[in-house]
Amino acid sequence: MDYEITILRHKKGSDRSYYQTFAYTSEGNENIAAVLDRINRPSMTDIGGEPAEPVRWECSCLQKKCGACAMVINGIPCLACDRKISDCPAKFTIEPLRKFPVVEDLIVDRSSMMDELRSLNVWLSGEARSSDDNMTCYEASVCLQCGCCLEVCPNFCAGGEFAGMSAAVPMTRLLLEMDNKQGKELASSYVRNIFEGCGKSLACRDICPAGIDIDKMLINSNAVAVWRRNKHKVVKK
Ligand code: SF4
Ligand code: SF4
Ligand code: FES
Repeated sequence: MDYEITILRHKKGSDRSYYQTFAYTSEGNENIAAVLDRINRPSMTDIGGEPAEPVRWECSCLQKKCGACAMVINGIPCLACDRKISDCPAKFTIEPLRKFPVVEDLIVDRSSMMDELRSLNVWLSGEARSSDDNMTCYEASVCLQCGCCLEVCPNFCAGGEFAGMSAAVPMTRLLLEMDNKQGKELASSYVRNIFEGCGKSLACRDICPAGIDIDKMLINSNAVAVWRRNKHKVVKK
């Protein structure tokens, strides 16, 4: 099948972005990571036959495990190594995540996500207790820090007080694993930087490429940090 793929380009150090369209013939049911590799062949040209620079994008595992290849494909944030071209229409767009500064083409600077975890002290400084709900802790631990949930969140803005679901998920895990004394400060940060900023729209619910059950995370973290923080009881779904 033949595709027209329009990519939002941005030269490093430039303040100008522009769209460039490429013709692409699919060789099967390849994912967008493979498509980008093939577009980036030597002597590449755009759909008008004009020479084009290789499209810069990030990847590491190509196994849906690292989150590096997160981008916006036809308006939907997802992983390039996960999204199949057969799920895209004949003409579609590829753009960088919009909530972070663009470095070059599809590469964005997501360091603010990690800075947020650091500033909220989202780590264990002592021994973890065994949680009553190991499955929820396990599920929270698969967060890729890809930022797809932040892309669709109407309340998140990089550098703002609301830290978004990419912080709420690891906080849920820690809140479940810490005892009341250990978790007191984290529970306060959770209330201030997650609970009070989250509009509970659940726009982030179906977007997570790691398949994390966002409802379950919020139910558990709200239960521990907000409603029953002194009892440390967990609501299970
Ligand atoms: S529930 Fe809504 S406001 Fe809260 S993190 Fe998800 S998208 Fe953002
Ligand atoms: S919760 Fe899901 S969408 Fe959000 S950063 Fe983690 S893996 Fe990505
Ligand atoms: S390259 Fe690691 S998730 Fe796509």
